[in-house]
Amino acid sequence: MECLSSVKILQKKTFLVLLVICTASFLLHMNHINWTMEVFHRSPASHSLAHKHTNVAFLKTHKTASSTLQNILFRFAEHNNLTMALPRSNCAPLFCYPKVFSSHFVHPVTLRANMITSHMRFNKTALQRLMPYDTKYITILREPASMFESLFTYYSRHSG
Ligand SMILES: *[C@@H]1O[C@H](CO)[C@@H](O)[C@H](O)[C@H]1NC(C)=O
Ligand SMILES: *[C@@H]1O[C@H](CO)[C@@H](O)[C@H](O)[C@H]1NC(C)=O
Ligand SMILES: *[C@@H]1O[C@H](CO)[C@@H](O)[C@H](O)[C@H]1NC(C)=O
Repeated sequence: MECLSSVKILQKKTFLVLLVICTASFLLHMNHINWTMEVFHRSPASHSLAHKHTNVAFLKTHKTASSTLQNILFRFAEHNNLTMALPRSNCAPLFCYPKVFSSHFVHPVTLRANMITSHMRFNKTALQRLMPYDTKYITILREPASMFESLFTYYSRHSG
């Protein structure tokens, strides 16, 4: 009889312990779900721009898919209301290429720029003076032989 009751007490204790573990795990799980949902429900508008790098100088190179990336950056700039430095009309579309880049080639309406993505001959000093101090400088490099082939095909079509 005594043995039976101690078994019952043990069962009760085990049950209570299990109940506590289950409840705790359930609560933690709920919290996790809630947290996860919150992450998914953040709309782009409520996203702080502080987490995005909005100042970018993209050195556009020839025959490297750079127009594709430029297009992506244009869309990003439009979506985030950023200012894109564009060439003056007498310099367009390549910032007076093949002259070395100067801030005089930029259309004044497109200053204070967040981004610059058109073809240019790189001048670090001139760009650093033009762009915000935290600008990210990026470019695309391509394996030279295949790039030369691509350039050759492109220009032989355009000059032929
Ligand atoms: C779940 O998320 C909502 C909205 O962010 C918050 O108000 C609520 O306190 C959260 N609940 C728990 C259990 O974390
Ligand atoms: C976009 O930026 C311009 C200039 O920086 C500002 O005048 C304008 O209010 C902004 N528009 C929106 C919708 O944030
Ligand atoms: C680069 O820009 C700086 C500042 O505008 C200028 O002084 C320098 O002469 C330029 N370099 C070349 C190679 O044009």
